[in-house]
Amino acid sequence: MSSPGSTEAKPTPPAVETLTVKVDGKIVVVPRTTPDPLSGKPVPTTMIQACAAAQIDVPHYCYHPKLPVAGNCRMCLVEFGTPVIGPDRKPILNPDGTVKINKSPRPAIACATPISPGMEIYTNTPGVRQMREGVLEFLLINHPLDCPICDQAGECKLQEYSVEYGQAASRFVEEKVHKPKHVDLGPRIVLDDERCILCSRCIRFTRDIVGDDALGIVGRGSHSALTRYPDKPFDNNYTLNTVDLCPVGALTSKDFRFQMRVWFLKETKSLCTTCATGCNIVIGSREEKVYRYEPRQNDAVNSCWMCDEGRLNYKWIGRADRLAKCRVRNAEHGLTDATWSAVLREISEKLQKAPRASVAIVASARQTNEELFLLKKLATRLGAITDSVPRCGEGDRLLVNADKNPNSMGARFLGVCYTEMGINLPRIADGISKGTIKTLIVCGEDVTRHGLGADLLARLETLIVGDILPNDTTALAHYLLPGCAHAEKRGTFTNAKGRVQRFMKAIEPRGDARPEWEFLQELLFHVTGQSGFVSIEGLFNQMAKEIPAFQGLTWAALGDSGVTIPNSF
Ligand code: SF4
Ligand code: FES
Repeated sequence: MSSPGSTEAKPTPPAVETLTVKVDGKIVVVPRTTPDPLSGKPVPTTMIQACAAAQIDVPHYCYHPKLPVAGNCRMCLVEFGTPVIGPDRKPILNPDGTVKINKSPRPAIACATPISPGMEIYTNTPGVRQMREGVLEFLLINHPLDCPICDQAGECKLQEYSVEYGQAASRFVEEKVHKPKHVDLGPRIVLDDERCILCSRCIRFTRDIVGDDALGIVGRGSHSALTRYPDKPFDNNYTLNTVDLCPVGALTSKDFRFQMRVWFLKETKSLCTTCATGCNIVIGSREEKVYRYEPRQNDAVNSCWMCDEGRLNYKWIGRADRLAKCRVRNAEHGLTDATWSAVLREISEKLQKAPRASVAIVASARQTNEELFLLKKLATRLGAITDSVPRCGEGDRLLVNADKNPNSMGARFLGVCYTEMGINLPRIADGISKGTIKTLIVCGEDVTRHGLGADLLARLETLIVGDILPNDTTALAHYLLPGCAHAEKRGTFTNAKGRVQRFMKAIEPRGDARPEWEFLQELLFHVTGQSGFVSIEGLFNQMAKEIPAFQGLTWAALGDSGVTIPNSF
């Protein structure tokens, strides 16, 4: 192994063996093999992957790049040819010097046919078009054609391909086969078998990715139908991914169905905050209301999936009892509304006068890197002891992490807690009870559940609380600062594997609520005179300059899929 700084040449990675093929006349060079979506072992590259490399779309239903190939819908049929090989094992040339191609008399399904050297693929011939029209007509024979009341409308592959390859009128005059409708498949999914095109994506995902044998196809011919096997509940923690995978409206989410037409939804790139995995998501929102989370592909984090628990963990954002007003406690009237400027001025005056080490800060590993960075700066100025609250649960082998904080790693990198989170909480409790800690700043945590009970908090001279929802700690606050949900601000989290990922703002905050980084930077300015953190980009870039773990990162370079900090373990 070469030592750091050694001049020894690094071993060059083995050359990737490539093949040159033509797709609709466009030459593309693709690897001879690609990793199998399940085992990761190299398997021959297929025509549909070569077409994707050539940026030519081949219509498909059953194919999904993250699932094993089934090859059952036939929508991806293409024509192709291969070089004519002479007795000397070399391609025979045409008089004009081009390679002589032997066009296959039969089409092939692009999703399951490996490419070969010099292959030519034709995706746009009259024959291919006719095949697509035929397949689509066949798939629609028994389909109820109920788009106006179907929840998939607007993101349905049957609709989309019908526009391109569908027929205006049906030639089918017989009675359609009727199949089960409104089937309660599990606690979160409803099945309409008449819409199902039997692509088996849902079965393959559930069996091969999740390891659950709950789904299968029963019956023969036109009477084949997707079903949940008797006594097999379809209730694993990943069932809602089948709704995303279903190319038609057969599987719908009980949570989202009939709530909103998808074309009205604004899509915002964000992150799930339910555990430390940091699954990439898209927030679907309209008129300042979140309607759904969907997974966003990031092969370094969550592939194309997310768990049901995380997906449904958005309703609290719209809760009616969200904290939406800045409040100050006075002896006469208790907590009363106040303006941000008045509250921040009062708090800063108190903090400026506070003797060193008389302040403690309980941060939250649900806060962003930027917010924790500002809190740490404040803590350093005040000589404050800091910690954050551990949040542990159950993990699984697929995505769910046992750490239920989205930013535990960030909290450690930024030094607001030790490797063992929560280790300082007893010291803070002790300091309050002895009277050495007189001011406590709490961000986003109900500390009454973590060893700092109401009796202890009552001893404080000043309790400053920033939070989103009311709890026993916010009820005792002297100063209450309403913060924002992640969907209402921008920022970054560092996931359990050290990947720094940013998220964007989907909706406006409630009432007077503000992103914590905004009011923390104002507070920091009043207390320390440090300024310059007026944009989230600038704040992140400054943090990357000052904190060794984030060295070299920039907000812009994080892109949509984030950057993993090298050697973060
Ligand atoms: Fe395919 Fe949807 Fe039918 Fe499952 S329910 S087989 S994903 S069409
Ligand atoms: Fe190839 Fe279905 S996508 S057969």
